[in-house]
Amino acid sequence: MRTIIATVALVIIGIVLGGLGFIYSGVYNVGATDRHWALTYRVLEIARNRSIKAHAAGIAVPANLDDPTKIVIGVEHFADHCAVCHGAPGVPQGDIAKGMYPQPPDLTDTAKRYAPAELFWIVKNGIKMTGMPSWSQHSDDEVWGTVAFLKKLPGMSVAEYAKLVMQAMQHGGQHHPGGADKGADHRPESGPAQQHDHGPQTAPASK
Ligand code: HEC
Repeated sequence: MRTIIATVALVIIGIVLGGLGFIYSGVYNVGATDRHWALTYRVLEIARNRSIKAHAAGIAVPANLDDPTKIVIGVEHFADHCAVCHGAPGVPQGDIAKGMYPQPPDLTDTAKRYAPAELFWIVKNGIKMTGMPSWSQHSDDEVWGTVAFLKKLPGMSVAEYAKLVMQAMQHGGQHHPGGADKGADHRPESGPAQQHDHGPQTAPASK
């Protein structure tokens, strides 16, 4: 019995010391150019998907997600903050996104794989250690608008996207209460270039 306990204790101590040795030695490559092992990737993916499901469980989805006003709010938010990493119809991802690991995925079909509450949770909270930012400083209205837009994205043509971006420009821009970019020019950066007068507090008439 004693020898068994002693052996188990030695094995545990060995594992702990081995683990510490691995961490402190610096052999692990933290470079973004070094891909995860398939197993590490799989474990991270399961943890991430389970976490998103569990955390989104209590979120109530607004009834009028299909409202065109919401989609216009969403496309503006998307063109301004998301297309740079994720791209959009006719808009390639930027250089920063290309160097990231994990790569920001193309969101064309993402809405088919997540419920609206899950998309809301992802966008509001971001995803740790991946470069996907949290947008918790932006209003729920903007985040739900973005979800409404993502729901429309599967199959959206370049022309349809461009039209929505134009509508968003005419719409006048959204404000982020308390946001750091208050008063900044809210012309969607990744949309067609057009002069866009964004006076102070031109809050759109929302229904
Ligand atoms: C700095 C780059 C960056 C920006 C900006 C960004 N994202 Fe992401 N996003 C990522 C990365 C990287 C991932 C992949 C995370 C992962 O692998 O778990 C991701 C993942 C996602 C996912 C999950 C996709 C999937 O297939 O599982 C959604 C949805 C998403 N982003 C939406 C948005 C929206 C909406 C915005 C704008 C409000 C945005 N992102 C802005 C980098 C970014």
